[in-house]
Amino acid sequence: MRLVKSRRDLDQALAHLDGPDGVGLVATMGFFHAGHVSLMKQAVADGKSVVSIFVNPRQFGPEEDFDRYPRDSARDLQIAEEAGIDLVYMPPEADVYPPDFATLVTVSELSDLYCGHYRPGHFQGVTTVVARLLGLIKPRRAYFGQKDYQQSAIIRRMVADLVLDVEVRVLPTVREESGLALSSRNVFLTEAQRQAAPALHQALVDTEREMLAGERDGARLLAALERRLKRIPGFKPQYWALADRRNLEPKGTAAIGDVLLVAGHFGETRLIDNCLLGESNQGARTLLELT
Ligand code: PAF
Repeated sequence: MRLVKSRRDLDQALAHLDGPDGVGLVATMGFFHAGHVSLMKQAVADGKSVVSIFVNPRQFGPEEDFDRYPRDSARDLQIAEEAGIDLVYMPPEADVYPPDFATLVTVSELSDLYCGHYRPGHFQGVTTVVARLLGLIKPRRAYFGQKDYQQSAIIRRMVADLVLDVEVRVLPTVREESGLALSSRNVFLTEAQRQAAPALHQALVDTEREMLAGERDGARLLAALERRLKRIPGFKPQYWALADRRNLEPKGTAAIGDVLLVAGHFGETRLIDNCLLGESNQGARTLLELT
């Protein structure tokens, strides 16, 4: 595995790497967990692979956790190497945002919903950095996790709208055995919060089960989800929504394939999760299909 820290070295390393299938990019902010590893393994399986590690200041609001965002590059490099990654790019900020950098990429509407409503400017920061990284690395494939469902929908929209020549692959959320979605921010949870946090996934799964059992009324499903979220000790729900899986428009009537989205806080720590209806209660879905 090669590590490069400048744009010049990146260009050189990419020239050596390039093969008939191009390269796959896993763009990250580091502090790897098994979710990142699953993206890396897929990238490695698909061909030459590049991981970028850059904690992007533009996607954090002024009151958010940019400074305390967890970082451990020595550990990250070891994990990337073990996953079989060919190249790691750890750019200095000036590579990503040179002094004359003046372009902001915004996917309108989609970026203002849900997380975007509570984190103004966040998705503009994400799409701007991802567009820049796609330009610098020119991957044929780019890998993202379903845990950041809205982010992946926005990136897909950007890639389609700008006719960018990259295939966006979104891989399933990796969870602890308890159901808790892996996130770099989980390290901030206290023991008590960690005990309570799996209930977030459980609330989604229980609501999905209710839908699969026949309840299709969106308002009733969301009211049940709200009750479940509000019962989680120490958790302050921020939003809960039922949306179309592609354009994320709120839905009044639930259908298989729609997405339930939730976000909230344990103390200062913000967690998000989601569930594609019909995908986590596999047993229930089979039952439904049989009836
Ligand atoms: O999902 C993330 O880790 C970040 O939002 C990304 C896509 C690396 C952009 O900084």
